[in-house]
Amino acid sequence: MTYQEQIDKSRIPQHVAIIMDGNGRWAEQRGKERTEGHAKGVEVVKKIMENAVELGIKYLTLYTFSTENWNRPEDEIAALMDLLFNNIDEEVFIKNHVRLRVVGDLERIPARVLAKINHCIDNTREFDRSTMVIALSYSSRWEISRAARMLAEKAVNGELDPSAIDEKSVSDAMTTSFMPDPELLIRTGGEIRLSNFLLWQAAYTELYFCDTFWPDFNMEELCKAIYVYQQRERRYGKTGAQVAEENKNE
Ligand code: IPE
Ligand code: IPE
Ligand code: MG
Repeated sequence: MTYQEQIDKSRIPQHVAIIMDGNGRWAEQRGKERTEGHAKGVEVVKKIMENAVELGIKYLTLYTFSTENWNRPEDEIAALMDLLFNNIDEEVFIKNHVRLRVVGDLERIPARVLAKINHCIDNTREFDRSTMVIALSYSSRWEISRAARMLAEKAVNGELDPSAIDEKSVSDAMTTSFMPDPELLIRTGGEIRLSNFLLWQAAYTELYFCDTFWPDFNMEELCKAIYVYQQRERRYGKTGAQVAEENKNE
């Protein structure tokens, strides 16, 4: 039986976040340029977006380019920006009724890329079947520092009582405030780390790591991650017995 057949369709996570890693190594193993791996990776993004919609995932957040990725060779960065520019395919979003959002330090993104993204965001903002969030020039420490700055400015202006700052106000100051925290975070490509992604939001997220390079990721791999997620017991600090009791009363 495939994982797609085995997953419980009534318990699909609402929000899945993915660290799409392994494009470069996928290409290098085949004697190709790293950018060819990125190009293949983009094709996979389009497929996974449609797969996620089909499964009923409401939010799909994709780590596309990190703040640290600005330290890569200039030609690789340029190739990545070109790929973005050429593959923000509004038609695919419209066809699937998917809304596009983006989180990250967009001031650093080339104007033509940003214009294309904003056009797509504007033309898809009414769709509510699913939301695809591109994390672009994003890092958690950038986001958390920005949130701290925003809250401090409000406090200085007298709009916010510092003693009233709680988890909700911090969450609301994050760039991701329009969506719930991810239930499941997937990282492809074999590394077991978060690389500055959703550190605040993933406080209680189930983490799933696989060796598959992103260009080889597919619907079945996504379903496997969901299957593993569905086998886990999410305890939130309680005991297994307490959780079992709560589930019985549901
Ligand atoms: C992920 O693949 C894509 C980006 C970070 C833009 P990598 O380019 O990091 O691939 P590896 O890790 O070198 O294989
Ligand atoms: C993380 O991948 C960022 C993205 C997938 C966009 P990296 O390949 O840049 O991560 P590190 O630096 O190896 O941890
Ligand atoms: Mg990598």
